[in-house]
Amino acid sequence: MADTAIDAVALVTGAGSGIGRAAAELFLERGGAVVAVDLTDESLAWTADHPNAVAFPGDVTDDANNAAAVAAAVEAFGRLDAAVLNAGMAGGLPFEDPDALARFDQIIAVNLRAVASGIRHAAPAMRATSERGSIVITASTSGLGGDPRNWAYNASKAGVINLMRGAAMDYGSQGVRVNCVAPGPVETGMTTRLVAVPQLQHAMARRIPLQRWGRPRELAEAIWFLASPAASFVHGAVLPVDGGLSANAGHFDLPERAV
Ligand SMILES: NC(=O)c1ccc[n+]([C@@H]2O[C@H](COP(=O)([O-])OP(=O)(O)OC[C@H]3O[C@@H](n4cnc5c(N)ncnc54)[C@H](O)[C@@H]3O)[C@@H](O)[C@H]2O)c1
Repeated sequence: MADTAIDAVALVTGAGSGIGRAAAELFLERGGAVVAVDLTDESLAWTADHPNAVAFPGDVTDDANNAAAVAAAVEAFGRLDAAVLNAGMAGGLPFEDPDALARFDQIIAVNLRAVASGIRHAAPAMRATSERGSIVITASTSGLGGDPRNWAYNASKAGVINLMRGAAMDYGSQGVRVNCVAPGPVETGMTTRLVAVPQLQHAMARRIPLQRWGRPRELAEAIWFLASPAASFVHGAVLPVDGGLSANAGHFDLPERAV
């Protein structure tokens, strides 16, 4: 049965690493309960330390698995208040690479189609069990503009932004809010190889008005806000959490960090 002492019952995908793990840990820290989805048992081993966390290994491209993860949340905690549809993959290839279209299909399957699958299972469960249903999707500043060699990722993240807007039209009247966060560069498993090259890490930081990369916890805070009653009138929105990157017209070099 639902524990009314639990703040929010959340499904978090990609909870084995980076932004998803930070979000899942923040929900738990603030009195919530979490069903944590990621590809492997090992990546979810951290949940063993949390009585209100359920590890649910599986692939978000599997629609049946997403249905089962939502059902597991309702079964374990009596309701579903939030779904953080965050699992994602990068991986650029030149357009003319022989594997380009296979990679495109893979990226679209994980970053876009799987989010549609998550929405179609999470929203009805929220409608049936929660008075504060909120879906938060992790988009990207790469969905607001282009990156060299990352056309597939760019397309997937632009797509997920308008997927969110469409879902917001369908589900607003049913009491389920739907929003995106759009992270800029954040130090996570996805960006380890970029961060490991100091010149690259620095060059990317120089394009960000705050002159640094983001931290997973900073994204988790924004996700938590969008999922919380504090955001009760925020719906169909894209919240950049990017140190000002998306506000930079890009015409001039930015001032270096003063302190
Ligand atoms: N790190 C950044 O700079 C950045 C910037 C913008 C957007 N994002 C987005 O943030 C989200 C989280 O990424 P992150 O930076 O924390 O990276 P990460 O690699 O640390 O975490 C992503 C997690 O998603 C999981 N995942 C991938 N494919 C999956 C699948 N098919 N099924 C289940 N789980 C799967 C991975 O195993 C991994 O644990 C992604 O959607 C990513 O595109 C990241």
